Amino acid sequence: MPTVLITGASSGIGLEFAKQYAALGWDVLATHRHEATPSALAEAAAHSSRIRLEPLDVTSESHVRAFVGKLESAPIDVLINNAAVAYDDKMSLDTQNFGSLSFALFDRIFATNVRGPLLVTEALHANLKAGNEKKIVCMSSTNGSLTEPLPGSIGTFYRASKAALNRAMMNVAEAVRPDGISVVLFHPGAVLTEKNVRFGQPYPGMISTEFSVRNMIETITGLGLADTGRFLLYDGEALPW
Ligand SMILES: NC(=O)c1ccc[n+]([C@@H]2O[C@H](COP(=O)([O-])OP(=O)(O)OC[C@H]3O[C@@H](n4cnc5c(N)ncnc54)[C@H](OP(=O)(O)O)[C@@H]3O)[C@@H](O)[C@H]2O)c1
Repeated sequence: MPTVLITGASSGIGLEFAKQYAALGWDVLATHRHEATPSALAEAAAHSSRIRLEPLDVTSESHVRAFVGKLESAPIDVLINNAAVAYDDKMSLDTQNFGSLSFALFDRIFATNVRGPLLVTEALHANLKAGNEKKIVCMSSTNGSLTEPLPGSIGTFYRASKAALNRAMMNVAEAVRPDGISVVLFHPGAVLTEKNVRFGQPYPGMISTEFSVRNMIETITGLGLADTGRFLLYDGEALPW
């Protein structure tokens, strides 16, 4: 069976990708940044022998290199760069507001959301070349769009990080095109993850995590090299940059 590697699989969209790919019979490398396996991920793995758990902090170069070393030349069919940070530890956006910008948070968000996917993708290049599917999927956001108006001035670091991710991955798409590897960026929709519910973020029109991920998997299945470098909604609709 094909193998998918997911970063940040301890919650939300990453956890749901792990569950749904496992249910489809894929081998799932579900990675998380903790020393002990987070409970929701441990529970998912207890229900599926397809899910293999591995610690992987995408901000740590030594961690990423050691992890990839352990994989040796194992093929990876689909890499999902999902891990990201959007808020500070209190799930507040205040520390990203002009006038009270926390530059420690800036460093953390950029290390996770931009440097992390680049580090992981480059380190796994040979494994992706060895895979049959040859797909790199990055969870972006319309928060990173430069051409669409966005309300207010919230989420300065998060919005900037997703714009930077988009540009960086367009470069990666060109670099790996000769290897037959495609790179796609997704906006998963406004998703009602357990964190968004817990911290009171829901608003009308949000979609379920199950629905968003099911649609993204369908879209990923149909992707080919012709799609490389594109920015897509969960259902495959092209999004403006
Ligand atoms: N939910 C939405 O509406 C929405 C909309 C647009 C885009 N997105 C994007 O979709 C992706 C998933 O979001 P989500 O809503 O599912 O958020 P989430 O529940 O917070 O998931 C993010 C995951 O990244 C992990 N992570 C954070 N720092 C990490 C690190 N250094 N190394 C490895 N993993 C790390 C988190 O681990 P911990 O849980 O341990 O912190 C968590 O598992 C993100 O890229 C996000 O920007 C989400």
